[in-house]
Amino acid sequence: MLKVINLVGARPQIIKASAISRAITGSFKDQIEEVVVHTGQHYDHGLSRVFFEELNIPLPDINLHVGSGTHGHQTGNMIARIEDTLSEVGPDVVILYGDTNSTLAGSLAAAKMHIPVVHIEAGMRSFNKNMPEEINRITCDHVSTLLFSPTITGFKNLIREGFAPENTPPYHINNPKIYHSGDIMYDNSLFFGKIAEKKKNLPDKLGIKKDEFVLVTIHRDHNTDDPQRLASIFEALLIIANKYKIPLILPLHPRAVKSMTFLPHALSAKISREPLMKIISPVSFLEMILLEKYASIVMTDSGGVQKESHFFKKACLVFRPETEWVELVDNGTATLVDADRDKIIQAFETYREKRNLSFPEFYGDGHTAEFICKEITENL
Ligand code: UD1
Ligand code: UDP
Repeated sequence: MLKVINLVGARPQIIKASAISRAITGSFKDQIEEVVVHTGQHYDHGLSRVFFEELNIPLPDINLHVGSGTHGHQTGNMIARIEDTLSEVGPDVVILYGDTNSTLAGSLAAAKMHIPVVHIEAGMRSFNKNMPEEINRITCDHVSTLLFSPTITGFKNLIREGFAPENTPPYHINNPKIYHSGDIMYDNSLFFGKIAEKKKNLPDKLGIKKDEFVLVTIHRDHNTDDPQRLASIFEALLIIANKYKIPLILPLHPRAVKSMTFLPHALSAKISREPLMKIISPVSFLEMILLEKYASIVMTDSGGVQKESHFFKKACLVFRPETEWVELVDNGTATLVDADRDKIIQAFETYREKRNLSFPEFYGDGHTAEFICKEITENL
C-alpha cells in the first residue's frame, strides 16, 4: 500500500484534489492510502470547507492552520509545519497541485526529506516571474519526480527547461518523468457538469436569466493590489452594463472585496448604485459551474475559470497581459484584455456578435486522474 499525501491549501487545489480522491476511491483504494493535508492557506468557509462538503472529499486529516501573511511568512510557516507533518505521517509520495504558496512549501519540504513529489499541472508557464505563481511552479517542477502537464505546451516547456522525455525507471528527483497527461479539471467538469444542474434555481435567486448575463471573477494580486488596474476593469464593466443592459455577476474573492475600498470614491459610488453589477460572495463549485454553463460571456483573471469557460463553450476575456493557457487564445475563444478599459469593451462587443465559436478538446479524455494514479502506483 502506497501512503500518499494529497496536499491542498487554496480553493482551486481542493477542487483539483477531488478528482484524485475520486479516482483513488473508485479504482485504487487497494493500492493507495490517501492522507489529506490542508495547509490552511484558505480558511473562509466559502473558500475551503464548502468544497470538501460539496465535492465529497475526505475532510482534511490534518489542517496546519497557516492562514494569510506575506509570502515569506506564509511560505516559511508552511514549510516548517509540512516538514513536521511529513515526519509524523511518513508518506511515500506527496501530491501537489498548481502554483500556490502551498505548492511551493510542499515541494521544498518534501524534496529535502527525499520524499518523491508528484506535480499535477506541471510545465505551465506565463514567462512572467513577477507573478508569485510563476516562481512557485518553476520551483516545484524542478524538485518533482513525476510531472503531469495538462497541455502539450506545458510538456514542451519542461523539455525546454532540460527535462528529458526519454528518461526510464526508476524515477527519482534526479531522473524525473514528464507526462502530457491531460487536465484533471476537465475530468471534474465532466463529472460535476451534470450534477451542477441541481443548482438551477440560482439564476432566479440572483435575478438573472440563462444566456443573458456576464460572469466575472477577479483575484490576481496584480489586479487587486493595483487600484488603477482595478479601477480600469470596473470602469469597463460599468460601461458594458449600462450600454448593453446586461447583468454582471461577480462572485468576488475576499482579496478583491478588500481592494475595492481603495477605488476612487466616485467610482465606488457608481458601482454601488448600478443594479446590474451584482457583487456576491464566492460561490460553491457546483454553483460556479452552473454560472459558467449559463453565462453568455466569462471575464476573469483566474487560471481555472479560463479553462472552465472553454469546457462550457463560452468566450472568455482574460484580465491579464499573458496566460499559461495559450491554446485558448490561439483558438480565438479567449482574448487577453489585460486591465485595459477599451480592450475589455471592444472584446466584449466582438464576442457578443460572434457565433459558431469552436471549442476543441485540448485537455485530455476526462480520465486524467485515473491515469495519474496508475502512473503513481506503477512508478513510485
Ligand atoms: C492564492 C494563490 C493564487 C490562487 C488563489 C486561488 C498564492 C501566492 N496565490 O491567492 O495563485 O490563484 O489563491 O484562489 O499562493 N483571504 C481571506 N480568506 C481566506 C483566504 C484569504 O479573506 O480564506 C484574504 C486575506 O486578506 C489574504 C488574501 O485574501 O491576505 C490573499 O490570500 P492568499 O492565500 O495569500 O492569496 P490568494 O490571493 O488567495
Ligand atoms: N470557483 C468557485 N467559486 C467561486 C470562484 C471560483 O468554485 O466563487 C472555482 C472555479 O470554478 C475554479 C476555481 O475555483 O474551479 C478557480 O479558483 P481561483 O480562480 O480562485 O484560482 P486559480 O484557478 O486562478 O488559481
